Amino acid sequence: MSLLVTAIPGFPGNQSSLNPAGPAAAHIEHTFALIFWITAIVYVLTLAALVYFVTRRRYDLSHIPDPLQTTEASERLAKRAVGAAIGLTVILLFVMMISSFVTSRRIGGMNDQQALTIDVYGHQWWWEIQYPNEHEPFRMVTTANEIHVPVGMPIRIHGTSRDVIHSFWAPNIQGKRDLLPGYNTDVLMQVDQPGRWRGQCAEYCGLQHAHMSFYMIGESRKDFDNWMTAQVQPAVAPSNPQTQHGQQVFLEHSCVMCHTIRGTTAGSRVGPDLTHLASRSTIGAGMLPNTIGNLGGWIMNPQSLKPGSRMPPNQLSGADLQDLLAYLETLR
Ligand code: CUA
Repeated sequence: MSLLVTAIPGFPGNQSSLNPAGPAAAHIEHTFALIFWITAIVYVLTLAALVYFVTRRRYDLSHIPDPLQTTEASERLAKRAVGAAIGLTVILLFVMMISSFVTSRRIGGMNDQQALTIDVYGHQWWWEIQYPNEHEPFRMVTTANEIHVPVGMPIRIHGTSRDVIHSFWAPNIQGKRDLLPGYNTDVLMQVDQPGRWRGQCAEYCGLQHAHMSFYMIGESRKDFDNWMTAQVQPAVAPSNPQTQHGQQVFLEHSCVMCHTIRGTTAGSRVGPDLTHLASRSTIGAGMLPNTIGNLGGWIMNPQSLKPGSRMPPNQLSGADLQDLLAYLETLR
């Protein structure tokens, strides 16, 4: 069995169940490999038998006895053949069932001692991520669409939904888990390889379901701690007239109705927390690279990029937009 299991070659891809970057995904990949090879061999053998009987030398049909005229010997042979085929099928089904059961047990039995708990809230259509801190609640970190984790450490994703059913799925790390409104679900996982592992909502949740992705970012403990230390800080205060005006634009327009920038009066949680917006690599839930041009286009007319999203278009003068962008760029 272990031979079969290791026979699937390493596939590349940062959004692929075939390239596991953690123990849970590795267990799932092993089950997949086993089922893949069993079904592949059965398929090849069936086709080979078909080709053999279709192409083998033709007989003079007059010598072939009428198959409906059975003898005791031919009956016995037919019974044995059918019995053996059924027996083999049942055995293979049991092998696959047991493999699936063992995989579930292994994933469910993952060690959650000292797991790092991360709260994940599904929204139409983005992910709110929180790192609660029991001992020092004021050090809680809120971000969006990017989940930084230290490699080699068990992670407990504590998930729920703010609206409809979503499904949290980072295939390199763990299987899918539905996030249901009004219900909390815990799923354990661990990232063993550093990298940016792309995840995607895996349950149809409305118009922009396809644009509801996220990244799990596995990094060394030191990098993770540095990231956390930076995220805990409130937003930097604007330091020049342009960014000061940019902050004013933010606070005087509709931005403030939905977004939080810690350290300012903006404290709404309808949309993503923007305290450290510039530290994130994408906007619109993994839709666009977080560049100043994309951000400007997004702010002016999100509906042209992501129709149906909750963010309304904004009427800003060119100068106001430039200053707002300059300010947002400082939110590292
Ligand atoms: Cu959220 Cu699909």
